[in-house]
Amino acid sequence: MSEQKRKFRSAAWFGKDDKDGFIHRGWMRNQGLPNHVFDGRPVIGICNTWSELTPCNAHLRGIAEHVKRGVWEAGGLPLEFPVMSMGETLLRPTAMLFRNLVSMDVEESIRANPIDGVVLLCGCDKTTVSLVMGAASCDLPTIVVSGGPMLNGKYRGKDIGSGTDVWRFSEELKAGTMTQFEFNEAEACMSRSAGSCMTMGTASTMANMVEALGIALPQNAAIPAVDARRGVLAHMSGRRIVEMVHEDLKLSKILTKEAFENAIRVNGAIGGSTNAVIHLLAIAGRIGVPLSLDDWDRLGHDVPTIVDLMPSGRFLMEDYYYAGGQPAVIEALDSRGLMHATALTVTGNSIGDNCKNAPNWNQEVIRPLDRPLVEHGGVAVLRGNLAPDGAVLKPSAASPHLMRHSGPAVVFNTIEHYKQRILDPDLEVDENSVLVLQNCGPKGYPGMAEVGNMGLPPKLLARGIKDMVRISDARMSGTAYGTVVLHVCPEAAAGGPLALVRDGDFIELDVEARRLHLDVGDDELARRRTAWEPQLPPLNGGYQQMYVQHVMQASQGADLDFLVGRRGTEVTRDSH
Ligand code: FES
Repeated sequence: MSEQKRKFRSAAWFGKDDKDGFIHRGWMRNQGLPNHVFDGRPVIGICNTWSELTPCNAHLRGIAEHVKRGVWEAGGLPLEFPVMSMGETLLRPTAMLFRNLVSMDVEESIRANPIDGVVLLCGCDKTTVSLVMGAASCDLPTIVVSGGPMLNGKYRGKDIGSGTDVWRFSEELKAGTMTQFEFNEAEACMSRSAGSCMTMGTASTMANMVEALGIALPQNAAIPAVDARRGVLAHMSGRRIVEMVHEDLKLSKILTKEAFENAIRVNGAIGGSTNAVIHLLAIAGRIGVPLSLDDWDRLGHDVPTIVDLMPSGRFLMEDYYYAGGQPAVIEALDSRGLMHATALTVTGNSIGDNCKNAPNWNQEVIRPLDRPLVEHGGVAVLRGNLAPDGAVLKPSAASPHLMRHSGPAVVFNTIEHYKQRILDPDLEVDENSVLVLQNCGPKGYPGMAEVGNMGLPPKLLARGIKDMVRISDARMSGTAYGTVVLHVCPEAAAGGPLALVRDGDFIELDVEARRLHLDVGDDELARRRTAWEPQLPPLNGGYQQMYVQHVMQASQGADLDFLVGRRGTEVTRDSH
């Protein structure tokens, strides 16, 4: 065996001259692979979440071909493999329930196979997170290639955004200001190309997060899925991962505390989704970086939101790319000392070097720091007797007049209870009420669905009311907006104080003071707690049962407790 054959992990499979070597190489030859590709070159796993049931990732087989070209060109052996895919729009009860399951699929697929470096192909929200979580637990050289956003939606001469305009159209339909015909017409105008949601929803946010973390090439987030430059980025990622294997540039060398702090700052600047909070906490937990909710508040507080994209602003991802994409944002943040510019990235250079002098071609889309969309963007972390372990709110998506508000609660104890009660014309509710939804957290739903931005009562919509304070232990789609308090911890199903709220209780929200208070005396709360019984969904074994038993709270990333940490790539036994 040559020196070169011993060099990489895959040599333990392909570098042997015995029966095992025959089996490992021999069966692979049925794919037309010649002898020389087993010469000890880096084997690159291309982890693909392609699926026709995940429309946002349905084009990833094509992207994989571009990656392979780059891998071959750089002297690697590309081998594509599938993992379970999760589409936000079809999966029930919620894709989030399966994020941790897919991360296990990814981790075990990488570890069990002769892989030296990994390219992660993802797009729809949870596909990005689960792939990075699984890869982090293995800690090989890894690079992310996102599928890219869809082209802008176009309806009757105007841009429309994924998700964001669905919520708006649906409320207009309920309020009677949009006809069913117009609603159906809009449906055909929204998702008109391959790619993921083109608003700054969770998919675009997470594509930005992996770029800001340094684990994807510059411009990974913004290049539209159908722009030829997406293929170029995939090709260059294929070339680069081979070099990264030679350099032993593992994920843990890039995913440092500084990298996460950069990502939190970028999230504030782009007006990113609240889901990024949970997802970055989970990724940090896997790679072994201490990160907490308080880091989000501390670092996000002074970051102005400068990217004017829906749902917080006006434009869409296509515009963001043409304006300069994330490098222009990083250049702006760095100029104010808000970045760790020396943080290493997959290019082998620092993030500051990658983005030095990056141009901003459109200061309406990527605004200058002195003319931000929101002065204090980021994510506000609220605490108080209603959320002892924290809750989050996205100031850029909230209504300024509700940022300090006190009102009586209208309580729904499940999502079904909400759906049935919200339509009641006799429901005692007005624009000062606070809508409270219980039992929609990680254990309670299960899976912590994106139902926190509850639609308003039809009778208030008809009066032109556009926003109310809403509080829950659920999540919210990154494409949604409103004065919505999310991720209340501990969740109701785990016995959090949220479970004790009753109709008519007064709740105080003060975003600037970071306060969320239930105005009920301790004695009364203690009395209610004695009478409280956990409301858990029926469990019939299988993955869902394991999930409910082991899922941690949102403040800890909602990972399964036994998956936290880095387990490396060592296999326990040879196969034959
Ligand atoms: Fe897949 Fe939005 S539904 S990215």
